[in-house]
Amino acid sequence: MENLNLAIGAVLLLAAIYMIRSLRALHNKMGRQTERLAKAIQNLTQQERENAKQSTRQIEAYIQLNSLLKFTASLPATRGWAASPDLLLSISQLVKEQKPKLVVELGSGVSTLVVAKSGAKKVISFDGDADYAEQTRTLIRQHGVRGVEVRLAPLMPYRGGANWYDPSKFKDLKNIDLLIVDGPQGGDNSDARYPALEVLLKKLSAKAIVILDDVNRTGERKLAEDFAKALPNHELRILDHEKLTAVISPK
Ligand SMILES: C[S@@+](CC[C@H](N)C(=O)[O-])C[C@H]1O[C@@H](n2cnc3c(N)ncnc32)[C@H](O)[C@@H]1O
Repeated sequence: MENLNLAIGAVLLLAAIYMIRSLRALHNKMGRQTERLAKAIQNLTQQERENAKQSTRQIEAYIQLNSLLKFTASLPATRGWAASPDLLLSISQLVKEQKPKLVVELGSGVSTLVVAKSGAKKVISFDGDADYAEQTRTLIRQHGVRGVEVRLAPLMPYRGGANWYDPSKFKDLKNIDLLIVDGPQGGDNSDARYPALEVLLKKLSAKAIVILDDVNRTGERKLAEDFAKALPNHELRILDHEKLTAVISPK
């Protein structure tokens, strides 16, 4: 009888130890999960705060752009595929101040309209896609602005592997005072815009300004840096825009 009690006691003790260990493991596991959850919530909150800050900035820039340029027809959506309002506002200010005689743009859209509405006399905007080129022409017509040519330049393989605009479409260009690089779209190819340097460098006027959108991406950033290196009398500034903008202008 005594042995039986001892055996039962031992079993109960082992069961108690097992339960305590299991509870402790469960407690630790839940602690780790709670920690991970708290971290994820913290990251999300931070991200949401950043998004809200960015949206406010873009709305402020959009309102200023609207009141400075007095649009008379509706505008397509900005941001995403299109330039963001902060970049559009900077482009507009620059065109008003520098009064470039010839503006060349790679990647047409709302930015083309902003350049023309800001007073540029001659704008040639290249697009690799016939439908988007036509959309921009319609936009320009709706707003009744003049001096804009939206030139279709289908994308074709360029040396080095990227698809770029048909270079023969650039032959007549010279003395570009403002070059805006926001195309081609490129997808995952980070070198998609790089041929702009080789094709257009020699076509810039001595005081030309080059603006590159999307320099938060490595390919566009490298293109901006190489453009600046190729223009020794110019300097490179990075504007703290939503997608980061490079401005290369005379020193
Ligand atoms: C970055 S976008 C140019 C945006 C233009 N600068 C603007 O501010 O609206 C480059 C090219 O992508 C193409 N594109 C424009 N919107 C697009 C969309 N929603 N989806 C796919 N491609 C688009 C057009 O051919 C355009 O020339």
